[in-house]
Amino acid sequence: MKFFIDTANLDQIKEANDLGILDGVTTNPSLMAKEGIKGEEAVTKHYKTICEMVNGDISAEVVATDFDGIIAEGKKLAAIHKNIIVKVPMIKEGVKAMHWFTANGIATNCTLCFSAGQAILAAKVGAKYISPFIGRIDDSGWDGMQLIAQIAQIYEVQGYETQILAASIRNPNHIIRAAELGAHVVTSPLESILGLLKHPLTDIGLAKFLEDAKKWQ
Ligand code: E4P
Repeated sequence: MKFFIDTANLDQIKEANDLGILDGVTTNPSLMAKEGIKGEEAVTKHYKTICEMVNGDISAEVVATDFDGIIAEGKKLAAIHKNIIVKVPMIKEGVKAMHWFTANGIATNCTLCFSAGQAILAAKVGAKYISPFIGRIDDSGWDGMQLIAQIAQIYEVQGYETQILAASIRNPNHIIRAAELGAHVVTSPLESILGLLKHPLTDIGLAKFLEDAKKWQ
C-alpha cells in the first residue's frame, strides 16, 4: 500500500518524506487555505515546491464545477509538473471531465466519494484514483471501512484498474484497516502516520534496555 500525506504544509510533508515512507501528497482547497496560500501565482509555486520535495503523485484539486471550467483548470494544474494528478469532485460535470482527462492523457483523482455507485462511475471514466472519505462517513454514523471493502470487491470482480485511495483518515487504525482491506493507497495526516509508531510496550522495553545498557557500557 502506498502512503500519501494529506496536507499542504511543507514542514509536515518534509517530516513524512524524511521517514522514507512517502509515495505522494494529496491537497484540497481547505488544506491550501490553511497554509494561507492566495492567488494563482502562489498556488502554482506551492504545488511546484511540493512536486520538487516528493517524488510521487501530487493531487491538486480543481475548484470549477462546470465542464469547461474543470477542463481549463485541470489543464493548467497538469502543466505545473508531470507528477500532478488533477483532483476532480464526484459530480456530473466532474465525471464528464474525468472522461475527457483520461482520453487526453491527464491522470485524475476522483474526490468526495461516499458510495460504491460513485466509485463505479469513477472507474468507468478511467480515474487513476478514487478517494472514499472514510472519516467523514464514520463521523456521520456510517462505516467508512465497509465502503472500502465494497469498492475493493467490485473493482476486483470487474477488473477495474482505478486505485482505491482511502482518504479522510482520522487515526492509525484507519490506516491499518485500509491496508487489511486492500486499499492501494492511504492518504493521511502526519499525526496518524506517526501514530503507527506508538506502542507503550516499545517505550517500556526501550527504557529497560537503556537502563541495563548502563550496567555494561
Ligand atoms: C482527500 O484527499 C481529502 O483531502 C481529505 O482526505 C479529506 O479529509 P478530511 O475529512 O479530514 O477533511
